[in-house]
Amino acid sequence: MNQRALSILRLLNDGQYWSGESLENKLFCKRAKILDSLKDIDSYGIKIVKTRGRGFRWINPISYLNKNSILGYSSIDLSNFNITLFDTLDSTNTFLLDYLKNGVIDNKCIPVVATEYQTNGRGRAGRLWYSGFGDSLTFSFGWRFDKGVSALSGLSLIIGITIIRVLRTFSITCASIKWPNDILVDNKKLAGILIELRGEICGPSYAVIGVGINYKLSDVIKSSINQKTTDFSSISDVYFDRNQILSALLTEFQNILPVFVNHGFAYFKKEWISYHAFERHQVSLILPNDSVIVGTVDGVKEDGSICLMTSSGRKSYHVGDISIRLNSL
Ligand code: BTN
Repeated sequence: MNQRALSILRLLNDGQYWSGESLENKLFCKRAKILDSLKDIDSYGIKIVKTRGRGFRWINPISYLNKNSILGYSSIDLSNFNITLFDTLDSTNTFLLDYLKNGVIDNKCIPVVATEYQTNGRGRAGRLWYSGFGDSLTFSFGWRFDKGVSALSGLSLIIGITIIRVLRTFSITCASIKWPNDILVDNKKLAGILIELRGEICGPSYAVIGVGINYKLSDVIKSSINQKTTDFSSISDVYFDRNQILSALLTEFQNILPVFVNHGFAYFKKEWISYHAFERHQVSLILPNDSVIVGTVDGVKEDGSICLMTSSGRKSYHVGDISIRLNSL
């Protein structure tokens, strides 16, 4: 999205009509330029009406992410988090990975990057992650671990636990996890997690932890996603601000990650299994080489791999995509 459109959105976010003239005066440009910068605005899920004699009005304005608000919502001190907000970015994960090329992450100053819109949001297994402007909560943060990358198996499941715990504090009790870390409600995806690790074999290592939570997806964005999705506003009767959700997540990350460092995933295994949508169900697991394993889910191991009872015994797998087999429902 172009810079002028972003500036216009900041003005129109009051939900009021802005005459063409008042926009021209604020932005020091001609009407034609204003119209030109808004010409493809619908593709971001933004609805702006233009009414003769009244001007422009954004009819589905957002509550922008705001640093003071994020910090203010937490009951604990979040000053270890160094929060940077953008209106648009290619991907918050990519941003932090680039940051890691030039520096290190220190847990006394944890970088958190959130954006209203990603031009190249990335999902697991090379997939894309779609969201519209301000209609999701998309953020990443970095975490430093003293140990090497191999000691971090289970981390991606821990992040899933964090999200479920936080959803429960918002009275959303129907969410579950699909291994390894998709967050589902009614079998539709609410949130996804992308963890990218860097570092030395013996440590330290750094995790860039990216979270995308669908908040209030517009129809145009929903139609570009080729799986069943849901969003926060559809599953909660109560209005929660994205700043409040991000604040609650950072608070819980600050609680849970030190426990994971000290005790490993083993400490959380039982809790994770209690959240697993497919526990004891018959599933197909598609491996990266496209082969398919069929089995009944029988928990996870302490390294976060999934266990399946298959025709050749109990096996565990570190990677793959599981889906439920219809005849097992
Ligand atoms: C998945 O379910 O495939 C993972 C989706 C992860 C999306 C988030 S949005 C914030 C962060 N930045 C990215 O580019 N991806 C993650």
